[in-house]
Parts: sequence; C-alpha cells; structure tokens
Amino acid sequence: MAKSNFDINKLLSQMTLEEKVGQLIQLNSMFIGETTADITGPKEQLGVSDSMLAKIGSTLNFHSFAEVKALQDGHMEKDRLGIPLLFMMDVIHGYRTIFPIPLALGASFDPELVKDCTRMAAKEASAGGIHVTFTPMVDYVRDARWGRVMETCGEDPLVNSVMGAAQVEAFQGDDISDPENIATCVKHFAAYGGAEAGRDYNTVELSERLLRECYFPAYKACLDAGANMVMPSFNSLNGVPSIANKWLIQDVLKGEWGFDGIIISDYNAIGELLKHGIAQNAKDAALMAFENGCDIDMMSAGYCSSLCQLVEEGKVSEKKIDEAVLKVLELKRELGLFEDPYHGGSTEKEEALCLCPEHRAIALRAAEECAVLLKNNGTLPFSKDIKNIAIIGPFADSNAIKGFWACNGLDKECVSVAEGVKNLLPDAKITVAAGCSAEWNVCDKDGFAEAVEAARNADAVILCLGEPQNYSGEGNSRADLGLPGEQMALAREVLAVNKNAAAVLFNGRPLVLTELDEIAPAILDMFFPGSEGGNAAARLLFGEANPSGKVTMSFPKSVGQCPIYYNHPSTGRPKARPENVHQPYASSYIGCGNKALYPFGHGLSYSDFSYESLELDTDRMSADSEINVRVTVKNNGDRAGKEVVQLYMRDLCASAVRPVQSLIAFKKVDIGAGETVTVDFTITEEMLRFYNFRCEFISEPGDFEVSAGYADNLILTKKFTLE
Ligand code: GLC
Repeated sequence: MAKSNFDINKLLSQMTLEEKVGQLIQLNSMFIGETTADITGPKEQLGVSDSMLAKIGSTLNFHSFAEVKALQDGHMEKDRLGIPLLFMMDVIHGYRTIFPIPLALGASFDPELVKDCTRMAAKEASAGGIHVTFTPMVDYVRDARWGRVMETCGEDPLVNSVMGAAQVEAFQGDDISDPENIATCVKHFAAYGGAEAGRDYNTVELSERLLRECYFPAYKACLDAGANMVMPSFNSLNGVPSIANKWLIQDVLKGEWGFDGIIISDYNAIGELLKHGIAQNAKDAALMAFENGCDIDMMSAGYCSSLCQLVEEGKVSEKKIDEAVLKVLELKRELGLFEDPYHGGSTEKEEALCLCPEHRAIALRAAEECAVLLKNNGTLPFSKDIKNIAIIGPFADSNAIKGFWACNGLDKECVSVAEGVKNLLPDAKITVAAGCSAEWNVCDKDGFAEAVEAARNADAVILCLGEPQNYSGEGNSRADLGLPGEQMALAREVLAVNKNAAAVLFNGRPLVLTELDEIAPAILDMFFPGSEGGNAAARLLFGEANPSGKVTMSFPKSVGQCPIYYNHPSTGRPKARPENVHQPYASSYIGCGNKALYPFGHGLSYSDFSYESLELDTDRMSADSEINVRVTVKNNGDRAGKEVVQLYMRDLCASAVRPVQSLIAFKKVDIGAGETVTVDFTITEEMLRFYNFRCEFISEPGDFEVSAGYADNLILTKKFTLE
C-alpha cells in the first residue's frame, strides 16, 4: 500500500480549538449513531454539547461494517473538515470466528499459532470496519481469583512477552494502511493483574523491583514490536492511579522506554480519579490526566466538559493540545483513512470472511493445540469403536464456550461437545444429560438420577464441567475456585458407576480440582475454546488429535494458596517435608501443601516423551560469551506428537533473592513415533540479568543451574558458571 502523504499539519492549522479537543474524545454508541440522536441523559451527565459530539475523533464497539459505514458517512458529512472517525474495539480472541481465550492461547506455547489466529482476527475485524483493537492485553498475573486471568497468558513474563509481541506483529503486519491489518493498543499499563486479593480494580502495591522483573517485560515487548497505542490501567499503583501516575507514564513509559504514540484512558478511568479520591472534580481529573500524557479520554466527562476551558484559562497550552491531536491525525494518516475512511472494509468482505471454513479450521486447530490434558490414567484416548456414549454435565451440550471478551462471536455459532462427538461419531448412540447447573447458587440435584442412569448404561462417559463464561473476564473475580454448584456431587455419583470416563473442563482461570483429580480417570481442560470447541474436544477425546498444551498458570490445590506461582523465591525456610506433611517453623501450611496441583508448564500427551539428555558446550561463560544447550527428547510411543521443550534457569546465589526457577526459553517441536529430536538453545548473559535491590538490571558472576522439564518437575539439571 502506498503510504498516505496527507498533510496533517496543514489540517491542524485549519482546526478550531473545539475541533482539536474533539479529536481527543472517544465516545461509544450511547452518544453517537442513529439510535441515540435524541437520548439526552448520557450527554447531559457527561456534559457534552451536541457541537462537541459532532467533532469527536474516535468511537468504540460498533459491531458491523454496516453500522460503521453509516456512522462514518454521517460524521464525514457533518464534520467541517471531513476528518474521519477512528473505530476501535476489543478484538481479544477473535472478531466473529472465536478462538481460545488468551490464557489458553498461551498454553499452546506456539507463537506461530497465535499469529495465525490473530491474522484471522485482523482480517475479519478490518472487513467489519475496525481500525484499532484494544489488544494485546498482557497483564502479568499470579492470582487466579482475578477474573481477567482469562485475558492474559499467565504467570510467566517470557510467555506473556512472546505471545504479546506475536499479536502486535500479526495484527499490524508491515503496514496498517493495508486493509488486512489493524492498529493495536497494548494494555493495561501497568500491573492491573496485581490487584490485591485478586479482586478486579483493587489496589496494587508492588515494589519497583518486582514490577520491572515480572510485570513490565510484556508491555515493553509489545512496544518493541511496534504497538501503536497504550492504555493505562484502572488501578492505583503504589498509591496513584495509572492514568495520573507520573512515574509510570512520564518516567518509565515515555522517559525510559521512549514511547511517543497515543495514550488512551481506559473506560472512564479519568472520571474514576474522583472515586479514587485524588481529583475533586471532572476538570481537575482532566487536567491531571492530560498533563500526565493521556491523549484520548475514553468515555469520561473530563475532556468533553473541561479541556477547552483549561486551554482558555491558560492551564493547558494549545501547543500541548496540538501535539496530542497530531498523534491522533498521524494514526489516521498511517491507516490511510484520509484516502479511504472505510479502511477497505465492506459488508461483502465481512460476510465472506467471518466463520468461513478456512477460519473455522484455524479456530479448530487452535482449540486442539490450546487444550491441556491435565490427567490421564490411560483412559484417553477413547476408542472410536465405542457405540454408546453418555455426555453428562452442564457443559455437555452447551454452546456457551466462547469465553468473555468474545467480540462479535455468538454462543449459537460455537460447537458444543455433544455436537462435536456426533460430528465425529455419527453412528454412535449418544445420551446427553446436564445433571445439574454450573451456577454457584443453584444447588438442585433433580437431574442427577437421569445423568447417573445414562452413565451406568454407557460404554464411555464424557463429564463436561466448568464455570460459566461470565464468571471470568472483567469485573468477575471469585473468592472460591471450585466447580460451582453441585458439579462435584454429580461427578462423584457419575464416576462411581462408570470408570471409563473423562472430565472435560470449560474455565476462564485455574480452578481448584483437587477432589476431581482424585476421582476422575482423566481430565482434559479446554478453557473457553471458542467457535470450534466441541469439535476440538471430540477429536482430542477420541485420539484424532493429540493434546500438546501446557498450563501457563499454576492450578492451586486450595484457593488459600493464592497467589501461587512457579517462579517464587526459596525463602529462608523452604519446606523440606513431603507435600502433605506440615512442617512447623518452615514456610508451610497446615493441611495443605505448598505446591500447585498442576504446576506451570504441566500438560500431558498421548505420546510418551522422555528427556534423554541435556548437554552444554561449556560450563563457563563470561559476559560476552554464550553457552549452547542441546536437549534430546525421545518419543517412545506409537503416536506422533508435539512437545513443548522448556528450559529453566536458577541463579544459585545473588545479591537479591532469586526465583527457584525461571523459564528462559521454550520451543514446541513435532516428534514422530519412535523418533528422537534434539532442541538447541543459547544462554546469553542477558538471560541471567535481574533487578538488584537498587533496581539496576545486572548479572552477577556465580553459579547457575539450567534444567529441562517443567515447574516442579525439573530434570537433567546441569551447572554452569558466569565468570
Ligand atoms: C474496559 C476494559 C478495557 C477495554 C475497554 C473498552 O473497561 O478495561 O480492557 O479495552 O473497556 O471496551
């Protein structure tokens, strides 16, 4: 695509102050569009005049090209200078063809798969008239009680960084004016996932050291990949809400990292400064946010009602307004909107692309690769010769498996497990019985008898359990991580009558599965797999596909262990006794172990992989040398499979406490039946760096260990020394 040479400086010179401020305001369909022209309530509440409304620069969450086109046409007619609107949306894991939630995407450990899914989403969204997505969300998280766990890639900085950068590259391509590419907005800066007690929007108090070591890397990786925009987070960070946090935005984001793109507030985050108690009124909040570098105000009264006045009063310079406006106009120019305000979108394209066979195939592959086989005593895969199958549980025939933040995806367009099994085994007798509800407060067991009878009479049982998709996502935190309602009671009764059974889970976060793990012969976690979830589950259960996912977040034994994460320091009193034995005067719980039920990096396969060796080409390195590591993995089974070879490092002694292990590299490899493969990694001095207590990013001479395997199950450990 030829780059636009539209003269935005000339345009700026023609704009009035109100037209400039309009470009810094983003309002949604409550305020603009055919359906709302006469609604005055929200406008009055926000203090926005009709005159200002006609001049806003961007909008969000319109759901079809037809809507977008109508709005853009109307706007362009009214706007004196014909400046096109920017259309933004949360295209988090698909636009209409929905692929697995990001927590599951991370479990694929396959950045190329993430790119394939993201390319698909970019094409569909752009055809639908979307110019910018509020993605990637790369909030580092350690507490599964937090609802937005589903939207992130979990507790490891490297996985979050790799998957976040992959999304930026895949959404933006080489040129965002290309109709198949859209711009990105990395969020939520910063440390939104550190909400105290895992309760959404709650206070975040974290040391600078921990922020830099775990919470910052993924945002920085996305900016290094070229993300166009940044969205600061709702939460206060060490006492100051991010949108007004000078250290975070001025010193780190703009100062240290040199970010000079658009900063957009989260939804009414500027207005929330009053609730936080650090702004007296909308005008103060607007001043605070604008002075701190917030360019666009999403959905608050701040800029609408006060920014012009602040300029007229001399509290904000028009020069600063011009700088912010030029960023917005530059993004519109880069997108080619001055030449084509529709960015190549059309209803024809949208209808041709959304849920087309090729896109459904991508969603299917993703749902298969993101699933994690948590447990298997050999029951799986089921034989395809089975003729009589009972599919039981609240998710047995549920299409509500697209997950939160599913954009334009519809439940009815998602394939349920029962539908998937019927598609795969059209001749089998399939009995479906929900048995009970998945709601936490619905405790009736009326459906048990039918479910247990179906299980008793079946050759195999698929027990579909989980948490409703609106129990995770924004605002949906949980204080209990068990299977809601009577699902465990149902599982106990069903599994008591038929041992040829497997549990299939639908969840937006790690759940507490300790009892299920004791009684279920096999457990396959689909998370929220999206449009092709049921087909993927069926193909995995009956061996048409081989599970390869690995959890990117620890599954606790008890919610009381939260926050629980693999890359934890040793403490001065690490527990030495067995998991189920309390050890007084050690870092230990009475009645519960310290370890996760399923630790970070865990996931089983139908293949039988063994790690034969881990070799270093030298056991000494200096700051300007490297160590080459070769891991040899064998597939002893009769099935080809994919294995995520993970490389962990431990710094044995440093000037600050170090994690007992840190993932420093991973590669997902195909290994044929009986095949042996070697996987090569390189250890560099930069991989050994950490933030010392003065927050200097340094490496220190000393001894290190490098291991293959996964958290809590490190193998083939070798030592080396940094001189
Ligand atoms: C929400 C979310 C943010 C999203 C925005 C626009 O409140 O916090 O992630 O991008 O509003 O929908």
